[in-house]
Formats: sequence, C-alpha cells, structure tokens
Amino acid sequence: MSMQILDVADAAPGPAFRAGRHALAHIPGNEGWPLIGRTLNILADPKGEVERMAAKYGLVHRTRVLGETGIALLGPEANEFVLCDQTKLFSSTHGWSVLLDRLFPRGLLLLDFEEHRLHRRTISVAFKAEAMKSYLATLDAGIAAQAARWRSQPGPMLLYPAVKQMTFDLAAASFLGPDTGRQINDVKRAISDMVEAALAPIRKPWPGTKMARGLKGRAHIIGYFSREVSRRRSLNGEDLFSQLCRATHENGDLLSTQEIIDHMGFLMTAAYETLTSSLTTFVYFLAVNPQWQAALRDEVVSLGLSPEQPLPYEKLASLTQVEMAFKEAMRLKPPVPSIARRATRDFALGGYAIPAGTLIGLNPLYTHHMADHWAEPERFDPMRFTDAAQRGRHRYAYLPFGGGAHMCLGLHFAYMQAKCFARHFLQNLTVSLEPGYRPVWQMWPIPKPKDGLRVNLGRVG
Ligand code: HEM
Repeated sequence: MSMQILDVADAAPGPAFRAGRHALAHIPGNEGWPLIGRTLNILADPKGEVERMAAKYGLVHRTRVLGETGIALLGPEANEFVLCDQTKLFSSTHGWSVLLDRLFPRGLLLLDFEEHRLHRRTISVAFKAEAMKSYLATLDAGIAAQAARWRSQPGPMLLYPAVKQMTFDLAAASFLGPDTGRQINDVKRAISDMVEAALAPIRKPWPGTKMARGLKGRAHIIGYFSREVSRRRSLNGEDLFSQLCRATHENGDLLSTQEIIDHMGFLMTAAYETLTSSLTTFVYFLAVNPQWQAALRDEVVSLGLSPEQPLPYEKLASLTQVEMAFKEAMRLKPPVPSIARRATRDFALGGYAIPAGTLIGLNPLYTHHMADHWAEPERFDPMRFTDAAQRGRHRYAYLPFGGGAHMCLGLHFAYMQAKCFARHFLQNLTVSLEPGYRPVWQMWPIPKPKDGLRVNLGRVG
C-alpha cells in the first residue's frame, strides 16, 4: 500500500483534501441515494441506521452523509485508535470543518496538533479550580431562581424549551458576566442563530436560510467581542470572557482579539447545546425511573443545605449517585452522538486500506449500546457507573466527552452544572410523565425530544 502523506498544516479544507469516492469502493458498505446518500436514514433513526449497517457490513464500513462518502469506524478499539493517535494521523480541523468551518473557523475543536496544544493550554486557565468556583456561584444563583419559578407554577410544562432558555441564561451569566443589558440579549440571539446554522441541512447562506442568519449572528458577535476586549482587559472580571481577555500564550503574549472571538463563539456553542440536551435527558430518565428520582433526592437532601444556601464547590464530589445517573443518561442519549475526523495519511484498520483524505466517523451512540460492553443496553441503570462496575470496562466503551487531545475541555463544567441543577431541581420539585406518553427523540445531530417533552412538575414538601 502506498503511503501518501498530506501536510495538514498546509492543506486547505474542502474538496482538495477529500479522498476520491472510488478510492473507498473496496470497503464494504452502502452509500444510499445519489446526492443525499444516507443522510435521511441517519436523520430519521441514527442508531437503527448504524446498527443495521454494522450488522450487514461490519465495524468498518462505507457510508455517505451530507454529500460526502466516508468510513464509519465503530467500537471502543476504533475510538481509542483514532482519538489517542499520537502520530497526527487524524485531523479534527478537516473532520469537523464540514459542519463548523463557516461559523467557528478557529474554535478549539477546529485546530490541530501543535497549534491546538498551544491554544488549549492557554484557554485552560479559564477552567482551573478558582475560576470554576466563581462559575459555580453564578450557576447556583441562576438555577436556584429558575427552580423557584418552576416551583411557583407546578403542573404540566414543556421541558426542553425551558431547559434551553435556562442553559442559555446560565451560559451568558457565567461566560459573559453579570451584564444583563440589551446587548447581551442580542449576543444570545446571535449565538443561538449560529448554533442553528451549524446544524442546518442547507449549508449555503441563501436569503432566509438558517445559514444566512447564522453568518449574520457571527458578524454580530465579532462586533460585540471586538468592542468589549479592551474594556474587559482593564477590569478584573471573573467571567470566562474576562479570563480569556487576560490569558497569555506560552510566550507571554495576550490572546489576540480575533483569537478570543473564535474561542468564545465556539465555547458558548459547545456548552449550550450539549448541556440543554443532557439536562433534558437526565430529567426524562428521572421522570420514568421514580425510584432513582427518589434516591437522588435523598442524596441531595443529605447535603443538609437549606434552599437559600449556595452549593459549596467542595460538596460537588459527594453527589455520587447524581453523577452516576447523569452519566447513564448520557450513555443512552449522548449529546455528541458522532465524532468527525479526517485521515491525513493512508492507514489500515480492520483489514482495510483507508486512504488519506478519508472522512472518518466515530460513533458514541453506537458504542454506548454495544451488547458486548453493556448488558441490557437499553435499560437505564446508573449502577453501571460504580467504581467496581467501571473497572473491567474498555476505557473507550464510554465517550460522551470524546477522548485524547480534544477531550471536552468543559467536562467538569458540565458535571458541575448538572449537579447544581439536580440539587435545586430535586430539592424543590418532583417530575413525572402522563401515563402512556412516549416522547419521540430526534437523536442526530444532537438529541432532543421532538415535541419538547411534556412533563408534570409537582412541589416537594
Ligand atoms: C454534557 C455536556 C457536554 C458534552 C457531552 C460535551 C461533549 C464534547 C465532545 C464529545 C467533545 C470532543 C469532540 C471531538 O473530539 O471531536 C467536546 C469538545 C469540547 N467541548 Fe464539550 N461537551 C459538553 C459540554 C461542554 C461545555 C460546558 C464546554 C465549555 C464550557 C465545552 C467545551 C468544549 C471544548 C472547548 C471542546 C474542544 C476541545 C478541544 O478541541 O481541545 N463542552 N465536547
């Protein structure tokens, strides 16, 4: 097999860096319809689709999504091989650029290798313990107020839009600071439009499309952040934006205004959609598993905090059952169900030669339901995440936050928000579904209940 080497640093994203379709023809698979490929099958039922394809063609197979033929690499071994690669064989930039390039061209996930390492190190300062403590105080106050509002109006509610609004407000408060003026509402709207655009099926910015609105949103936040950077540098704010405005590279240089804009846009998006999805599924599974809802409430109450007392950072570690249940919710409905990469060189896996330029799809959703690794995979069982149960499991059988160099930088932020949310929600409210109601989930590109998820809230105590 010839070893074609592409220099990723110099290669422009896009068709020039794509493996030709014919070069993948020897790999078993099915590309579906002309033009649209298997996109509709994936949109309709991503789990069923990949399970059927895997059963028929194996854990390495050819498929076609969003106009490009690529290769699915399935299972823990493939996840580890790709995510923990030390030889720069897999590019995140050229994998994710298909979806994110227009809107977040230089967000952290869109950087590769040495440049990525440098930027990740620089912005990690905003995720150190001191910074996290200050975000926790902001999150706690926001969630407490939200739980009190829900408590004052018990009864039926559409959960998903309410969680979405709350998550957005929390992201704005902890990322941008306490400025609640009109400007912040415009920034919120702009970010929301960018998120919608990133996941929209029409990729061209034709008038009236989500992509056109998303690009307008991008222009708006570029303007907002550009104006704010110098002001924030002189203030001592504790929000994430202010932290990035003061962060320095290894050589002592401050991040440039453009770099801050790129990172802020991506960070807010990465946090917002994933947390909305995971908190919604978390509440859903507690609603349909009342025994776990009661167990988690007992754990929360055992913290001994009155409703007005903020959750101390040091207490987060005691919420072990909350963490296990949140993990199990993300196993069943991972907020990032698939992960994209592109091969920078030819390589071989599963007996197949895979050429440079091939789009690679990893699949947490599939992996999290593999019967070889998860007994009764469809059952909600947080006990899968006790220390003992986790010991014998493949490290990459569970990857809601990815792994390796690009592993989610906001992982601790996410657990912190989930625990804080569980604490106020369960201390104040009970949640249930109408008998017989079976919500339908759209699982890709980010899981959400199609009808918004109708729940009944009751008051505790
Ligand atoms: C439940 C919530 C979340 C989930 C499931 C999640 C999932 C993920 C996954 C799977 C990746 C890796 C993608 C890849 O390797 O291609 C990732 C990357 C990332 N996430 Fe999260 N995320 C969550 C919350 C957050 C939050 C709250 C933040 C920020 C505060 C955040 C910031 C990031 C960043 C910056 C990256 C890129 C890291 C890098 O490229 O080095 N995420 N996330």
